[in-house]
Amino acid sequence: MRLVIIFLLSALLPLCLSHGRDPFAWLYGQRSNYYGALQADTTGGECPSECDCPPSFPVAMYCDGRGLTAMPTIPSRIKYLYLQNNAIKAMPDSALVNATNLLWLMMHHNQLTSDAIGEKAFLKMGGLERLYLQHNNLISIPSNLPRSLRDLRINHNKIEKVTPADLEGMDNLTILYIHDNAVTEIGTSLKALVSLTLLDISGNKLTKVPEALPEQLHQLYLESNAIDSLPEGFLGRFTQLQYIRMSHNQLTDKGIPANTFNVTGLVELDLSFNKLERIPPVSTTLQHLYLQANQIKEFTLGSFCSIVDVTNFSKLRTLRLDGNEISRQDIPSDSSLCLRVASNIDV
Ligand SMILES: *[C@@H]1O[C@H](CO)[C@@H](O)[C@H](O)[C@H]1NC(C)=O
Ligand SMILES: *[C@@H]1O[C@H](CO)[C@@H](O)[C@H](O)[C@H]1NC(C)=O
Ligand SMILES: *[C@@H]1O[C@H](CO)[C@@H](O)[C@H](O)[C@H]1NC(C)=O
Ligand SMILES: *[C@@H]1O[C@H](CO)[C@@H](O)[C@H](O)[C@H]1NC(C)=O
Repeated sequence: MRLVIIFLLSALLPLCLSHGRDPFAWLYGQRSNYYGALQADTTGGECPSECDCPPSFPVAMYCDGRGLTAMPTIPSRIKYLYLQNNAIKAMPDSALVNATNLLWLMMHHNQLTSDAIGEKAFLKMGGLERLYLQHNNLISIPSNLPRSLRDLRINHNKIEKVTPADLEGMDNLTILYIHDNAVTEIGTSLKALVSLTLLDISGNKLTKVPEALPEQLHQLYLESNAIDSLPEGFLGRFTQLQYIRMSHNQLTDKGIPANTFNVTGLVELDLSFNKLERIPPVSTTLQHLYLQANQIKEFTLGSFCSIVDVTNFSKLRTLRLDGNEISRQDIPSDSSLCLRVASNIDV
């Protein structure tokens, strides 16, 4: 019976591949016992007994959620390796020597410490694109990470410092999640990341905006830090920035240079849970503005529109002003001319 199934599967395999199986599909939710039962057979190639290597997708190895405390052996054919949700404490230099073809390494929710990751552990992985290390106990970014990375997630660790050498030369890095760490200092470490579009550095201990952020960021998340002021011309440097989140900081009116947020291109601006007393001037192209839980005392229509006519009106759809020191009566009656498309104003 089992042989018949294997035969059928291998007959179907070229068909699946020709349809370009989405490798993402295996990340979420595949884990059927069906593949588990076939795992002992050799159609997929050798596979350590504590893991599953589905014959229909022989380049993937699933070892997640099995109570592992050490790295398994990794056959060299493996491209997608799932080791998340275990209790792995160490990644010695030798652990990944055969894993030269890895594209994805999922190591999140383990117990890795920085001391226990070998200096050379990552050296042989010339093509690694996705590395998930979130929810471990790291105090620094591991050294010698592959420069080929496109997506690095190292949030929810205990990282205090990022140095230029950590990320230098990662020309293809597009996503960097480093939120919920203890970063106080990042200097110019991110400047050279020419492909970075999403940076999440929220939930750290920054007291100022990192200098020299990559210019083509689309999304910049800085919420829940201790930032009290912004540098002059802060947003002017970006060419693609659409989403900026700075809620739960210590921003005051004084710390924000005039016209900081009056830049076209911005879609969403979150300044909630700060200490602002005025509504900062924003561009008429902004669509979502979050200002709840500040100390705003006045509704200044001029912050949204300096002129109002047929073509000059605000594109704002969402405006949150609840948890401030104003009420609905403070909104002037002629504001509907300017805030023409705002379907959602909370005061
Ligand atoms: C690497 O591959 C060799 C040859 O297949 C094998 O003997 C060795 O155990 C593997 N080492 C690891 C750490 O997977
Ligand atoms: C970035 O990606 C390109 C195209 O896939 C590749 O040729 C190049 O080697 C990569 N860069 C690095 C630093 O790996
Ligand atoms: C935003 O800047 C433009 C010029 O770039 C200016 O005309 C406009 O009045 C400014 N908006 C506000 C609300 O200050
Ligand atoms: C807004 O008003 C200015 C000055 O009256 C005008 O030059 C401009 O064309 C108007 N429209 C837009 C979309 O800025």
